[in-house]
Amino acid sequence: MRKTIFAVLAAVSLWVTARADEGMWLMEQLAGQYPTLVKRGLQLKEYDIYNPNGTSLKDAVVSFDGGCTGEVISFQGLVLTNHHCGYDAIQRLSSVEHNYLQDGYWAKSFADELPAKGVVVTFIDRIEDVTSYVQSELKKIKKGNGMEFLSPSYLEGLAQKKYGEAYLRSHPGTELEIKPFYNGNKYLLFIKKVYSDIRFVGAPPSSIGKFGADTDNWRYPRHTGDFSIFRIYADANGNPAAYSKDNVPLHPKRWFNISTSGVEKGSFAMIMGFPGRTNHFALPDEIREWRDIDNQIRIRMRGIRQEVMLREMLADPKINIMYAAKYARSQNGHKRAMGANWGISRSGFMTFSQETMERVKGWATEGRTGSKARVRYAQSITDIDGAIKERAAMRREYWLLDEGIFQAIELTRAPGLDLKPTDLEKAFHSYCNEDYSPVVDAKIAKAVLTEYIQQAKQWPEALRQGLNKYGSVEAYVDALFAQSYFTSEQGYARFMKLSQEEQKKALGEDPVAVFASSVRGRMKELREALRPFDTKIDKARRDYLAGISLAGGGASVGEGLSSLWPDANSTLRFTYGEVRGYSPSDAVEYKVPTTLRGIMEKENPSSWEFVVPDRLKQIYQNQSYGHGSRWTVKQADGSYEMPVNFCATTHTTGGNSGSPVFNKYGHLIGINFDRNWEGVAGDIKYLPDYQRSIICDIRYILLIIDEVGGAKRLIDELSLVTDPM
Ligand code: ARG
Ligand code: ASP
Repeated sequence: MRKTIFAVLAAVSLWVTARADEGMWLMEQLAGQYPTLVKRGLQLKEYDIYNPNGTSLKDAVVSFDGGCTGEVISFQGLVLTNHHCGYDAIQRLSSVEHNYLQDGYWAKSFADELPAKGVVVTFIDRIEDVTSYVQSELKKIKKGNGMEFLSPSYLEGLAQKKYGEAYLRSHPGTELEIKPFYNGNKYLLFIKKVYSDIRFVGAPPSSIGKFGADTDNWRYPRHTGDFSIFRIYADANGNPAAYSKDNVPLHPKRWFNISTSGVEKGSFAMIMGFPGRTNHFALPDEIREWRDIDNQIRIRMRGIRQEVMLREMLADPKINIMYAAKYARSQNGHKRAMGANWGISRSGFMTFSQETMERVKGWATEGRTGSKARVRYAQSITDIDGAIKERAAMRREYWLLDEGIFQAIELTRAPGLDLKPTDLEKAFHSYCNEDYSPVVDAKIAKAVLTEYIQQAKQWPEALRQGLNKYGSVEAYVDALFAQSYFTSEQGYARFMKLSQEEQKKALGEDPVAVFASSVRGRMKELREALRPFDTKIDKARRDYLAGISLAGGGASVGEGLSSLWPDANSTLRFTYGEVRGYSPSDAVEYKVPTTLRGIMEKENPSSWEFVVPDRLKQIYQNQSYGHGSRWTVKQADGSYEMPVNFCATTHTTGGNSGSPVFNKYGHLIGINFDRNWEGVAGDIKYLPDYQRSIICDIRYILLIIDEVGGAKRLIDELSLVTDPM
């Protein structure tokens, strides 16, 4: 008897507790995870990491420019993030004479720090649980659409209402946000401080910051110095203020100490940051949909497009530059989709999702008292599955159109009658600019349309008519590009000379304008047709998650959910694990860390992706790893190995880029910048054997600042520490 009770308890707790190293936890869940963290080696007190009533390490973690994470690393507001996170800002500050992307940049003084207009850095000052407040407000709604529980604008209204305008007026730079968790079973309010005078301080050249570029993207073993440095400026009181030359460097509440002691296999590693999106409560049918529709179509269509692009790029250096960024963007998503489907194909991937679903179903339908009240939980599964089945054909059509035409053929952004006259110019130059080749676009169009018409059923009307008229994709595309105002600047200039009446007539007849607006129109129709299914799934998932909680033995929904991590939604989270390599396939093993030797092995002066700058080669040859080699560790034979990147079992996703990685003493050991492609299915289910965060070793960052940048003033500003023995 005792044995069975024990077995049941064990099963329940196994089921509701996430497995080792899985989890993007809320700060408030630190208490629950703390015993495990200590067991794994953490030497900090809980309040050192997160202290709701005082300062803690979390106060040194910032959201960088919306999509990334950064960390404060000095008493004068220096912020460290990835090179790819600072990329847009650095590009905007660059010119032909000052190409900071290509050459790097190191401000020699405060006065040389360059205002990065538009960049914002956000601190999370306070987090409050407002679940009961939101739930009671939701109950008061008389005539709503039933979707307020997830609506950002509705929730924003509630946040304003709770705090009032007076509060915001007396707290400059403060913003409030209420976010739903577990699909609306919990709500947290974030009080944020947003700084907008951010200045660019330093970055390595792209040959270091983006070394390996697209070929190495999503890959380990990796050798990228993916970092850049900014500084937060504030008014004299330390409050956020618009750019002014009178602003001063921020004196932050907290900043990270930086460990020079290094990491090795097995070292404890913890990350805080702002992961963007995951879907780990997906039902098996949703995972199949992701695999068979979304990913599969993306892989097929982007594959066709990228093949054409690459052929053209390799044949012509000019095209190579023009299409580099477009190719990179396409390829980033392509590789991610391939990794996801690879992960899903691992044996047992679906089991967790299947078991959870069956558990909820079994509990909801079991014939005991109270089971009637549980009907909605079983119904939620039926609703989600039903919506997935019903929308399948439509979703396929949408993805084929989006990936196969809209995102593939640049001309689909062309002016058309569906756009406002004031938007025509913007539409035209969104694709027809110095990086546009109508020749390449036409070749891509021929390739993707040939595939599209075989796979899709509900073509845009213009395509149907065009193919009827011209007889083949080849002839239709040729006609599109031959007869339009919108494939060149000259054509557009002719269009601009027409009177308003003539322009309207031209938009109704120009084959490209007709094609583009027909594609957009069809996409809009499909989006609208799909919306009721999204709504149904969103509502049902709220019940499904409540069901998971109650079926798992939670006395209340909130209690049961508290031991599960909520899906990522760009809010502050922590994750932990250890520094460890992996075996991607039989007999292959990837180790930690990678070293400067590996950069020299990958060097290829004839490929822009693998150029090694001379200065780095010198450093390698002379082993000048910091004055007195202080950024590295001496090997047994007296030589030095310079670590570059390592990977860890921490659970991260897009948005975690730039996140601080710290050791058991809370000292910074690196910054997160990517994942391995074998691990991207971790957005649905964490794969302990395969998923790894890819991290730039802080010692490599110090080496580059010191020896490549020569920026001693920055090194002097940092709090460098050695770990206790
Ligand atoms: N894979 C990284 C992420 O998803 C992007 C790294 C940027 N580098 C690149 N070569 N595209 O954000
Ligand atoms: N490269 C991603 C980012 O920029 C990180 C990831 O997807 O793991 O956030």
